[in-house]
Amino acid sequence: MLNLSASRTDNGTDKDLFLEGGSTMKKFILATAALFMVVALALPQIAQAGSMSLRGDKELSAASTNPDIPKLQLDQESFKRNFKEQPPLIPHKVKKYQINLKNNRCLSCHDKDNYKEEEAPLTGKSHYMTKDGKEGKTINMSRYFCTQCHVGQTVAKPLVENVFKGVPVK
Ligand code: HEC
Ligand code: HEC
Repeated sequence: MLNLSASRTDNGTDKDLFLEGGSTMKKFILATAALFMVVALALPQIAQAGSMSLRGDKELSAASTNPDIPKLQLDQESFKRNFKEQPPLIPHKVKKYQINLKNNRCLSCHDKDNYKEEEAPLTGKSHYMTKDGKEGKTINMSRYFCTQCHVGQTVAKPLVENVFKGVPVK
């Protein structure tokens, strides 16, 4: 338990005086703490009332209905990025492109050695950087599973309404 009536030290700093301010201060601190607890306990309920998961408003034990899957917008111009560090969306089909321990189909077009011949954009330079900022010969393993960050191009409705505006990229 925190001792609110901390004793004054020899050189009595302001902080000590503040805490020693007597029972009014103590009551005030306790009341504030109590208010925080009430709000913290109520928050999950408030959040639940306002938003819904992709599963919809269903009992956990009930079967879920399939969410609407937005149509992919492929083989057309790439969508502009909303900010510089956003992983660009994939403007082509990827369904048959496997990524596993032995094969990475994405790299067969986007890797350093192949991209020119395949007329595909090179993966970001950042994808070759090691932890200490040196450019490696092969893709850094933290970037191996491309679809962890890059997803197909769709016009998807935001899950939660928001006022985010992108920052134009070149
Ligand atoms: C057969 C070659 C080929 C393969 C395989 C391939 N891509 Fe591509 N990719 C391209 C080409 C070409 C483009 C340029 C846009 C276009 O023509 O569709 C492109 C564009 C992209 C872009 C957009 C880049 C930008 O700057 O806008 C991303 C991201 C991407 N590919 C990711 C992937 C991922 C992830 C995979 C594997 C799941 C993959 N690609 C597999 C050829 C390929
Ligand atoms: C950890 C997340 C992550 C992974 C994994 C990842 N990327 Fe990226 N990628 C990004 C981000 C972020 C950018 C944009 C900034 C940059 O270039 O680093 C990007 C950029 C790109 C670009 C565009 C480069 C340019 O100069 O415009 C291509 C193409 C691409 N990635 C392909 C791939 C491929 C292929 C893989 C798998 C081998 C992959 N990425 C794995 C996050 C990722």
